[in-house]
Amino acid sequence: LNKIGVLTSGEDAPGMNAAIRSVVRSGLYYGIEMVGIKYGFQGILDETMGDMKAASVGSIIQRGGTILQSYKSEEITTNHGQQKAIEILKKHGIDGLVVIGGRDALKVAASLAEKNYPCIGIPATIDNDIPFVEETIGFDTALNTIIEYVDRIRDTASSHEKSSIIEVMGRDTGDLALWSGLAGGAENILIPEKQEDVEGIVEKIKNGNPRDKRYSIIIVAEGCVSGIDLNTKLKEEAGIESRVTVLGHTQRGGAPTGRDRVLASRLGGYAVDLLLNNEFGKLAGVENNKTVSYPFNEVFSQKHHINESMYDLTGRLSI
Ligand code: F6P
Repeated sequence: LNKIGVLTSGEDAPGMNAAIRSVVRSGLYYGIEMVGIKYGFQGILDETMGDMKAASVGSIIQRGGTILQSYKSEEITTNHGQQKAIEILKKHGIDGLVVIGGRDALKVAASLAEKNYPCIGIPATIDNDIPFVEETIGFDTALNTIIEYVDRIRDTASSHEKSSIIEVMGRDTGDLALWSGLAGGAENILIPEKQEDVEGIVEKIKNGNPRDKRYSIIIVAEGCVSGIDLNTKLKEEAGIESRVTVLGHTQRGGAPTGRDRVLASRLGGYAVDLLLNNEFGKLAGVENNKTVSYPFNEVFSQKHHINESMYDLTGRLSI
C-alpha cells in the first residue's frame, strides 16, 4: 500500500482523535502517504480530503470529539454509494482505508471490504456495543463522566432524601447504565435488555427499602424508557416524586481518559499493521491485553450482550 485514508463516522466518542493520531503517525512511520477524510464517508463522496503530516495530528491526543468531523451519510449505505466511494478512493490513489466509529460505521466498512476494498475498522463508541470487542474507544471516558455526575447527585439526594432518576445514553445497549450503576452504587438500573424491569421498579419502590432508606438513585438507559416518562409513572403509580437529570451529550464530550487514549493508540497502530500485512476486512480489538482482529462477517453475525452476572450483582448490592 502507498496511501491510506482515515475517517471517523457516526456519533463521536472521546478518544477518536487519539486513534486518528496513531493511524496517521503509524502510517507515516512506515513511509505511507496518509490522507484525512473529513465528514465521515460523506467526505469520500464529496471529496473533502487532504494529506496529513505528523504535525496535522499534533496536540490532539487529549481532545474529545474528532478533528476529522463526523457525519451520518445516507448515500454510503447504498450499493451505488459504496461503489462510487471506492471509485473516488481509487481515483485519489488511496489504496486502503481505516474507519473509526460505531456499529453503523463499521457495517459500511464491512460492505466496502466485501467489495474487495482494503478496509480496517476501529471500534469507537461510548456504547460499548460491538460484538467480540471487550471495550470500545470512548466507553471508559463516558463511564467516568457519568460516575462523576452520579456522585454529585447522590450528595444532594441523600441530604434531602429525594430520589433521583439519571438518564444516560444507550439506545440499544445498557452497558453504560449497568457499569455506571454498579460503580455509582445505584439502587435501580433500567436497561433496554431488561425492558420488563420498568414495571417491576414501581413495585420495588412502593415496597420500600428494608433499611428504610428514603432516597434512591435510579439510572436509566435512554433506550429503555425516558427519565421523564419514568418519573411520571413513579408519580402516578407509586406517589414518588423524583428529580430527573438527563446527562445527554455531556457523556460524549470531554478529554479521553488515560485508558481510552492507550486503547485508541494501540488500535490505531494495529490497524495500520493489519493493512500493511494485507489483512483486510477486519475489526481491530484488544483481548486479554493483546491486539487481535475479527473478520467483519463474524462480528456482524453476532449480537452484543450485557454481562448477566454483573447485572445480577447490581441487584444483590442494592439491598
Ligand atoms: O453514541 C451513541 C449514542 O450515545 C447512543 O447510545 C444514543 O442513543 C445516541 O448516541 C444519542 O445521540 P443523539 O442524541 O445525538 O442522537
